[in-house]
Amino acid sequence: MVALYPGPAEVGGIRLKNHLLLAAGILGTTGASLARILHNGAGGVVTKSIGPSPKEGHPGPCLIVVDGGIINAMGLPNPSAAFVDELTALAGEPVIVSIFGGTPEEFRTVAGWFAGTASGLELNLSCPHAEGYGAAIGSDPALVEECTRAVASLGVPTWVKLTPNVADIGAIGAAAERGGADAIVAVNTVKAMRISTALRRPVLGNRFGGLSGKAIFPVAVRCVYDLYEACSIPIVGCGGGHRRHRHLCCDRKRPLQSGRHRRTRDCGVRPCMSRCPQGSR
Ligand SMILES: Cc1cc2nc3c(=O)[nH]c(=O)nc-3n(C[C@H](O)[C@H](O)[C@H](O)COP(=O)(O)O)c2cc1C
Repeated sequence: MVALYPGPAEVGGIRLKNHLLLAAGILGTTGASLARILHNGAGGVVTKSIGPSPKEGHPGPCLIVVDGGIINAMGLPNPSAAFVDELTALAGEPVIVSIFGGTPEEFRTVAGWFAGTASGLELNLSCPHAEGYGAAIGSDPALVEECTRAVASLGVPTWVKLTPNVADIGAIGAAAERGGADAIVAVNTVKAMRISTALRRPVLGNRFGGLSGKAIFPVAVRCVYDLYEACSIPIVGCGGGHRRHRHLCCDRKRPLQSGRHRRTRDCGVRPCMSRCPQGSR
């Protein structure tokens, strides 16, 4: 039986307090919210994705609830370099800064702002609803390798978060590994859309967005399986966070990120995944 270890773990060059991390973009938008999540039991936190210039995000509606999850099209709203100040009080904590850019140079610039304070950097090469960013770059193995190299060469632990919206995720993971990634995070949201028949138009302001939640769990498992075959660096499971993650492998090298924590009354985070069947990966 493989267990989710409650104690600290070293993954992809980052020392974590336990195996359960806050996934990017959910609650991690201020230093105070990141501190609160760590205080309530998360092994580490990933921030909202930060880019080269401030961004307001897409017009609303930005989020809709569907069977088994939600579809969001936030559009990567972020304060850019001003976010550096949010992390001052979190020095020494397992804080991973999620970053994005439209070119390898932009990735390197944003990475440089946080290189001295973050425990590690997570490259968002996977957001499905931000033109010119995220999955637009993360679908091209050559660009993935270049962006990864531009950041990894700064010497900060570098994780690369991948999109499931590609034909061969193994090839993308292998490109990140060649670029010097210390770990892969799989996966971001699944590109999705909802149309209102009453209004005869898409519900989201951006028309399409990314599906997360229970419904994408089998997609995430398949991606982790493919990546395990193609890569030798650690894989951090993400997607479909709910109480029964028995099919994702949990060992000292493979933690989990979740955007759907069970909340305690004081907004705490609990490791929800406790066991995996023997032989599962
Ligand atoms: C409202 C919302 C905002 C998100 N923002 C980001 C983001 O800024 N960067 C990123 O890499 N992923 C972002 N994600 C994706 C999550 O980190 C995660 O990959 C996805 O929700 C799948 O996990 P889950 O099914 O456990 O929620 C966002 C997801 C949601 C629902």
